[in-house]
Order: sequence, then structure tokens, then C-alpha cells
Amino acid sequence: MELPLAPTSPMAVSRARVRRDLSHIPGDRGWPLIGHTLQALRDPQGFIAARADRFGPIYRRHMFGEEGVTLLGPEANEFVLLDTGRCFSSAAGWGNVLGRLFPGGLMLRDFDEHRLHRRALSVAFKAGAMAAYRTALDRGIAATLDAWRENPGTIRLYPAVKQLTLDLAASVFLGDDEKAGRKEDIARLQRAFIDMVAASIAPIRAPLPGTQMARGVRGRKEVVAYFTARVAKHRAGTGEDLFSQLCRATHEDGSLLAVEDVVNHMSFFMMAAHDTLTSSLSSLVYFLALHPEWQARLGAEAGMGDTLDGARIEAMVETEMAFKEALRLHPPVPSLVRRTVRETSFRGMAIPPGTPVSIDPLYTHHMPDLWPEPARFDPLRFTQALSGARHRFAFVPYGGGAHMCLGLHFAYLQAKCFAWHFLRRFRVSLPDGYHPRWRMWPIPKPEDGLLIRLTPI
Ligand code: HEM
Repeated sequence: MELPLAPTSPMAVSRARVRRDLSHIPGDRGWPLIGHTLQALRDPQGFIAARADRFGPIYRRHMFGEEGVTLLGPEANEFVLLDTGRCFSSAAGWGNVLGRLFPGGLMLRDFDEHRLHRRALSVAFKAGAMAAYRTALDRGIAATLDAWRENPGTIRLYPAVKQLTLDLAASVFLGDDEKAGRKEDIARLQRAFIDMVAASIAPIRAPLPGTQMARGVRGRKEVVAYFTARVAKHRAGTGEDLFSQLCRATHEDGSLLAVEDVVNHMSFFMMAAHDTLTSSLSSLVYFLALHPEWQARLGAEAGMGDTLDGARIEAMVETEMAFKEALRLHPPVPSLVRRTVRETSFRGMAIPPGTPVSIDPLYTHHMPDLWPEPARFDPLRFTQALSGARHRFAFVPYGGGAHMCLGLHFAYLQAKCFAWHFLRRFRVSLPDGYHPRWRMWPIPKPEDGLLIRLTPI
């Protein structure tokens, strides 16, 4: 059976909220009304592991007022992400989380429409554009880390990396002209944007007065106004920043993207890049602080060559392996959501149309059959030989298939630029007796901001 409406329309999403019979799928409904919501929020990783043990790799769960299905393991990732039957809507899956604040972003479009927009936007990650981003990242990271060196000692890493990522976005995403403009405009934009991101994962979904969602909706208005006012100028210019690339991007027939689309894609890109990079760079530093031997290896890699050109970035093979291992242990998007638009089946179990479906990179990345001693930090898991021998959906920090992260090369670029500058300036360790706790959902984050001791070299 197929849902009769275009899956991206809000009507289709609400039509899909009819009660479906999932009783043939192992699992239970949990508590009346709240289902498993509290259990899952309290300990998401433990909740999934316990249900996997009890019910197997496909189970039913009841969260946020609705019953849905979780599919676990690399085969499930492949099935959902490759979606050869065009059964899974990303827009209807992510709509509840991102729809109000980031409408029109790539993850909120499906199938042919998504493909056309994605093709138009891919110009922003071609080689020439990436070279310009590298120059801006190199400059911006060097300046910030020089400032960190002025005040060595113990810092709270997560907020420091968050501010660095925001500042880099101002120059790399918006261009030096904007960054050099009125400082208070950029600061207001950054605050508005932070409110939007925080609102997207806030528990209260209605913009009631005083809630994070109300601040997020206000933030969106400001962000939209800021970008809308600047599209014409960036279209006419020759800027190499990401916003200029989007402003000049064209559809297949050569027509420019509508202003509204440019603005929506730009807001979405900033959101997609922000917390993911903050989380993953913090994780990398954390694991290096725990593993001085890897710090020394990457430090040696960073010590080679005095300029950060394309060839140097390419040569940072072990840094890339270590970053991948950090993404395996702490995937910034620990679960991915979809909603079926037609009936499908997995492992012989029918999944009706309109069903929320999630897959779980965090779970897959800790499966002992795929990753022996899964809790151990070991970048050598990512040698070419070992990577090639593994299921290709065993490592999915960037998802896969049509919606695979469009910014993944940018993420590697920023991680390598950061590691290169960082390890040429500092050795890192954790304060004695300090054991930070990480909250893994909705995005891996150290609960206390992560204390890190920086020793200048
Ligand atoms: C370590 C950093 C990052 C991680 C782990 C990450 C992860 C992901 C994942 C898992 C998805 C797919 C979600 C799904 O299929 O439901 C995704 C999509 C996306 N990401 Fe990233 N991301 C990162 C950085 C970035 C950056 C830096 C940018 C932009 C510069 C970016 C832009 C996007 C976009 C535009 C999409 C939507 C693609 C589509 O729907 O076609 N991401 N990302």
C-alpha cells in the first residue's frame, strides 16, 4: 500500500499518524501514554542494547506519542539508507525535529525533488571551493589557537570548540566581507542561530511563550532576514565563501535557485555543520588526551611540512584514521529517522506505510562482531585493508545513500586543519583523577564541558 500524498507535504505526515498495527513485530508499548520515552531518554544506549538483546535486530517501540520500529545492524542500515524501493521518507522522518526551524533543507526533501536540489548544491563542495575553504580554515584556526596559547592551563574544551566552529562558520560560510562587517550583526546572527539549533532538540515542540522553541522560531526570523537581505549582493560578487556558492548555484536548466531556497539551504548547512563538528572535534581531543601514544603519532604527522596545502591534508592518513575512530565511538548523529511512505518488509516482517523507522549508528559502531573490543580507541581499525574487509554499512557516521552527508569532505578538512594546528602547539591531557561523563543522545556531549589540560610545546 502506498501513501496517496507527496510524502514531504505536512498533510502526508499527519495523515500518516493513523494507528498502525505493528503487533506482529517483536516489542511492547511500554507505559500507557508515555511508552518508552523516559527510559529511552534516560539511557538511550542502554535502552537500545537491552531491547536488542530481548527482541533482536528489529523491534517495536513507543516514543513521543507514537509507535515505531527500530532496525539494527549493518544490513538494516543498508536497507534503509540505500532505499532501493523508495519506501523511506527523510522529510517525514526528520520533520518533527527539524521541520519548523529548518524547512526546505536537504534532509527535509525526498526522492526526485531532493536529488535535483542536492545536485545543484554539490557545487559548493567541488575542488576549487574546497581549496578556498582550506585557506580560510587554516587562517581562522591558527588565529584562535594562538589566542588559546596565550592562556595555557586547563580549559573547558567543548564550549571553546563550539565558539571556534561558530567563528570559522562566519568566515568560511559567510566570507570575510561579512565577517569584517558590523560585529554586532554577526554576534546577533550567531545567537539567533544557536537558539534555532537548541530549539530543534528541545522537548517542548510548541513555540509557547518562554520556551526554547519560541526563541528558536524568533531566531529563525532573524536568520532568514539576514540571509535574504544579502543574496543579491553575494550573487553579483565573486566570493568564494559557501554562501556565495549557494547564491550562484543553478538548477540543471541553468536557472538560479529561488532566494527562499538559498536561504533555507544555507540555514540548514550551518545547522548540519555546527554541532556535528563541535562534538566530533571535542571527541577527537578527548581520545588523544586519553591516548598519548596516538597524540605522539599524530603530532609527528602534523610536524611534517610547514604549510597546510592540499597535499599535506591528503598526507594526514593517521589523523583521518583517528578522527574516524572518534566518529565510531561517538557518532555525532547517533540515530537516523525515516517514515515509510509505502509498505515494505525487513527480515520477513512487514512494515506498514506511515511507520516511523529508526536506525542506529551508535549501536552498529559498538557491535562486537564488527568491532572487537568495541569500547577501545584503536584508529588502526581504519587501515585500508581492515576497512575494505568490513560490511560497507558497518561505519555510518555520515549515513549513506541519497542523503549521505554532503559536507563530509568539509568535516574531514576542518578536522585535519584543526589537528595540524592543535598538535603543533599543544600536548593535551586530562586533569588527574578526572573522568568526564558523556551524554550520547541527541548528540554526544561531555556533561561538564570537558576539562582539558593544554601544555604548550
Ligand atoms: C563530523 C561531522 C558531520 C557528521 C558526523 C555528519 C553527519 C551527517 C549525517 C548522519 C547525515 C545524514 C542524515 C540522514 O540520512 O538522516 C548528514 C546529512 C547532511 N550533512 Fe552532515 N555531518 C557532519 C558535518 C557536516 C558539515 C560540515 C556539513 C556542511 C558543511 C554537513 C551538511 C550536511 C547536509 C547538507 C546533509 C543533508 C544531505 C541530504 O539530505 O542530502 N554535514 N550529515
